[in-house]
Amino acid sequence: MVQCGHGPRFRVHEVRSPEPAKSGVQNPESRVKVKLRSRHLLGIEDLDRSEILTILDQARTFREVLDRPIPIVPALRGRTVVNLFFEASTRTTTSFSLAASRLSCGCVNFSKATSAVSKGETLLDTARNIEAMGVDGIIIRHASPGAPHFLSRHVKAFVVNAGDGAHEHPTQALLDAFTLREKLGSLDGKRVLMVGDITHSRVARSNLLCFSKLGARVAVCGPPTMIPPDIEQYGCEVFYRLDRILDEVDVVNMLRVQQERITSSSFPTVREYRAFYGLTAERLRNLAPEVVVTHPGPVNWGVEMDFDVAEFSRALVLPQVTNGVAVRMAVLFLLAGGEGEVRS
Ligand code: NCD
Repeated sequence: MVQCGHGPRFRVHEVRSPEPAKSGVQNPESRVKVKLRSRHLLGIEDLDRSEILTILDQARTFREVLDRPIPIVPALRGRTVVNLFFEASTRTTTSFSLAASRLSCGCVNFSKATSAVSKGETLLDTARNIEAMGVDGIIIRHASPGAPHFLSRHVKAFVVNAGDGAHEHPTQALLDAFTLREKLGSLDGKRVLMVGDITHSRVARSNLLCFSKLGARVAVCGPPTMIPPDIEQYGCEVFYRLDRILDEVDVVNMLRVQQERITSSSFPTVREYRAFYGLTAERLRNLAPEVVVTHPGPVNWGVEMDFDVAEFSRALVLPQVTNGVAVRMAVLFLLAGGEGEVRS
């Protein structure tokens, strides 16, 4: 397993100060140009609130681009990124490919199965060889926690963590935060409940960090076998009974049972899991009218959510996927040296 280290920090560099209004009071409309100084996005852990907001504000601009008849801008013309995916993916890999093409950026897709990794080539050799062909950015998904951090110390290209084992999945957290802000206005003071396999979910870890940094009160709920024993130190509440907390929250963030990372049985049967922790049709009917539901996908229908959720008007599962393209455009743009604009 690759050691999980700390990559360079992601900092906001102020390029231009906002114009003060004549009265001396800050003009509410003034905007600050910001540039992210780190070349990498390795985890939400490394970002502070203003850095997260920089990415989300930039994503809002790109979200508008996606609604145009020709949804493409020349922002990264002449650049190339590679999707280096050592684990299965549908949404994330497609989303990064689309994000790159909407920015006029080339994107090469690497698949572990058909690569020389099957002949024993290492992660570092693979990355260095791809980089030698002239790649500006490497988007990596790997089963080993810390693989993107390791790579970031050995390549010149910028590195984006697209999921490292059960550790982090920063762009999923950013797109979830973007989608929730679009729907709720702000996460400040909102109660977010994450339900399911917290222990094995990289989304849970990144979301907990991201939502908390944006001012939300985060709670987790699941079977005791799927909740890390020390999780309260991250400032979240823990519940083992879903019906005890479901009617007190603004957001229900359902998570997939991560079968591929579970070594022994964490719950007796799927039927019992659904009965205790599933968002069933009955629980959906009893949700307060303004509560929204998210899920990063892929969904195990009939396990963590009944299929009724797909038809539920306040389920944001597909808007999350659409917004993911805009958020990844923002990440690629900013890491490639673009300047973001944030309200001062
Ligand atoms: C997530 C992942 O891969 O961690 N999916 C995704 O990126 N859309 C969540 C999951 O697999 O459960």
